[in-house]
Amino acid sequence: MVQEKELFEQLDFVENPLFESIIAQLLKKKYAIVDGFFDASEVISLRESLLETYEVKGFKKSAIGNWIQEEVDKTVRGDFISWIDESKKSPAEEIFFRKINTMVNYLNKTCFLGIFEKEFHYAIYPKGTFYKRHLDTFKNDDRRKLSMVCYLNEANWPASNGGELTLYPTETALDILPLPGRMVIFESQTLEHEVKEVKASQRLSITGWLKTR
Ligand code: OGA
Ligand code: MN
Repeated sequence: MVQEKELFEQLDFVENPLFESIIAQLLKKKYAIVDGFFDASEVISLRESLLETYEVKGFKKSAIGNWIQEEVDKTVRGDFISWIDESKKSPAEEIFFRKINTMVNYLNKTCFLGIFEKEFHYAIYPKGTFYKRHLDTFKNDDRRKLSMVCYLNEANWPASNGGELTLYPTETALDILPLPGRMVIFESQTLEHEVKEVKASQRLSITGWLKTR
């Protein structure tokens, strides 16, 4: 019989406290909140990368349809997005994907999650915008397993700016401020959530999904 310790050594397994904390939180609560997932300098680089993309390529309204559809849509969500192409990543995005991919490999290895694909976009919520309570599977994509949001706001995002991510793990809502470097990960198919109205400034983030086959 192979001892467990030997097996881990064979798999070249090094326990990662950050990822272990994420796994433990997800198992217990269906969501995980990690402050400092990206450090201050990584946040600055990623924010610059977001703003440069905005200048160069522009962002699109989160869901574009005909005029009526678009009007309806504004009452649901008001953010603007730009999908990130991993094959054409900027140096800042390279750092982002290195960390995400390390995490995905870890989750697949330790939890057999079977994450096979991922997708990420930048998001800007201008002042006055929000995203009403929803599930991330409403577009009939049941391959979305975990939702991830990483905030790229300036260091001082006071509570008066609004823009909280509100989770509904039970009927008791949990408000989470979009503080820079903070990462929130939650089950896409079961956890309802919303983005509260941004009262001042603009709210910057990277949002993405880890998907099964
Ligand atoms: C989404 C979403 C949450 C956030 O884009 O589907 O729920 O905090 N985003 O930006
Ligand atoms: Mn969502």
